[in-house]
Amino acid sequence: MKMKELLLFLSCVLSVSADGLHSDIKIAGCSDSYGEDVYTLGGEEVAYTDFNKKEEIYPQPPFVDGMNYPGAYENAVAQQQVCRTTLQNCRKGMKDFPLEHDAPSGVMIYTRDEVEFGEENTLICYVTGFYPAPVNVSWTKNKEKVTGSSINVPYINKDGTFTQIARLQFTPQLGDVYSCKVEHLALTEPATKFYEVETSARSDPGVGPSVFCGVGLTLGLVGVAAGTFFLIKGNECS
Ligand SMILES: *[C@@H]1O[C@H](CO)[C@@H](O)[C@H](O)[C@H]1NC(C)=O
Repeated sequence: MKMKELLLFLSCVLSVSADGLHSDIKIAGCSDSYGEDVYTLGGEEVAYTDFNKKEEIYPQPPFVDGMNYPGAYENAVAQQQVCRTTLQNCRKGMKDFPLEHDAPSGVMIYTRDEVEFGEENTLICYVTGFYPAPVNVSWTKNKEKVTGSSINVPYINKDGTFTQIARLQFTPQLGDVYSCKVEHLALTEPATKFYEVETSARSDPGVGPSVFCGVGLTLGLVGVAAGTFFLIKGNECS
């Protein structure tokens, strides 16, 4: 009996501590045309290397007390060299085994916050289940190309495929149509998802309802007056 209680207690402790687990994942990878180096915590980017800007980027929210890794950029560059050499060796050793290609299994477009007309928001294009990384994501607004979007470095899933999240700042206006176009090696045609700003969005009540109400009431009264007028006229004629 005592033993059972003890086991129960232990399993409780285990499950509680499992709730508080954080996963700290470092990815360093390369292909012929792409390389990435990223530190993540609980699926969030803590630091990644921008090989074009030649520096380490720390996209951390303001409440974090700056988790910085001195020498991270140089380290990432060195790791890329190691990765490319390893890749060449593997290719030779495995007699140029074919590269696996997985097209994205999911592409979703949605807004970060509940949509309110005229209030700045973020459109998110979530792409997952692809291999190899990366995907290219481009945006349009009413069929015109838009720039100024951003995208996360590829994040690795449990099954070895990747996820990338693209973001576009936008201000919802009724009737605007946005699209995100996803290109990947394994897709013969780009995958495109659309987002339309619809009336279901909440807009600031402002003066709208009272004007509407006032106009409605006036029209109603005019209707009653006109009806009465014609009723009387009709009676007079007959
Ligand atoms: C992504 O864009 C780059 C640069 O325009 C291009 O070289 C690359 O082929 C594109 N990748 C895919 C999968 O379309």
